[in-house]
Amino acid sequence: MKLANQVAIVTGAGRNIGEDVSKLLASEGAILAIVDLDKGRGEKVAADIVAAGGKAKAFVCDVSKEEDIIATVNGAMAEWGHVDILVNNAAISDNKHMFDITTEEWNRTLAITLTGPFLFAKHAAKAMVSKGTKGRIVNVGSTSGYYGRNRAVAYTAAKGAIRNVTKSMAIQLAPHGIRVNSVVPNKIGSPVGKSEFDPNRPIVNLVNRPGVPMDLAKVILFLVTEDSGFICGADILVDGGVSTMMPE
Ligand SMILES: NC(=O)c1ccc[n+]([C@@H]2O[C@H](COP(=O)([O-])OP(=O)(O)OC[C@H]3O[C@@H](n4cnc5c(N)ncnc54)[C@H](O)[C@@H]3O)[C@@H](O)[C@H]2O)c1
Repeated sequence: MKLANQVAIVTGAGRNIGEDVSKLLASEGAILAIVDLDKGRGEKVAADIVAAGGKAKAFVCDVSKEEDIIATVNGAMAEWGHVDILVNNAAISDNKHMFDITTEEWNRTLAITLTGPFLFAKHAAKAMVSKGTKGRIVNVGSTSGYYGRNRAVAYTAAKGAIRNVTKSMAIQLAPHGIRVNSVVPNKIGSPVGKSEFDPNRPIVNLVNRPGVPMDLAKVILFLVTEDSGFICGADILVDGGVSTMMPE
């Protein structure tokens, strides 16, 4: 067990990538704070983990609300006494052209996909520091943070910023022994905001198959264990090689 008795908070843990990350960390002995806006989804994942012999509790939390974030971090501290790992996974996409997106949609996308991860890291890191915990934080980015897109605009802005705020966090938290890294998925499981896997979703990558949530979960597990102890401030592509290809 690589994570015995370590407390891990995973946001957006109610389905797809966050669900598999949570279940994999739990299988390595971590105690999971399953964070999701959707109560039913979060409770189902927590119940699955408990049924498999693990430890987990669901927290209903809107990551765009700082008071919810503080309540969740405080709740985990009250329940287990420490926080060792944070995986900032929750996000939404606007799926809008710049002419069509409203200011409200722009602000909400950034609040959930950028400001939420920042504030969660801030409050979780303070909890880590208060206990002298050598914590680990993983921010989930996207290949949309590397490229412009016709069908999304706020999401690309938020994911681009995740890359760089990860580096600032890594620098600012390194003196406390906290490592911060980000991961960069592309087309993993169902699209962001949807629960159904689309077998007809066009996939062009070097591995010739769609990504599955466990592809990302395994990399995140690596980043939160000592196996990756010399990796800090990195942005790891988990995209089947799609980012290496020049469009033809
Ligand atoms: N699925 C992909 O192909 C893909 C590709 C690139 C990047 N990503 C990134 O991976 C991460 C997970 O994506 P996914 O496809 O599993 O997402 P998803 O939409 O399937 O699941 C996201 C979960 O987050 C929850 N959530 C939404 N808003 C929330 C909020 N305000 N507060 C708390 N929880 C909230 C939802 O209820 C849901 O359970 C995201 O950061 C996404 O940007 C995914």
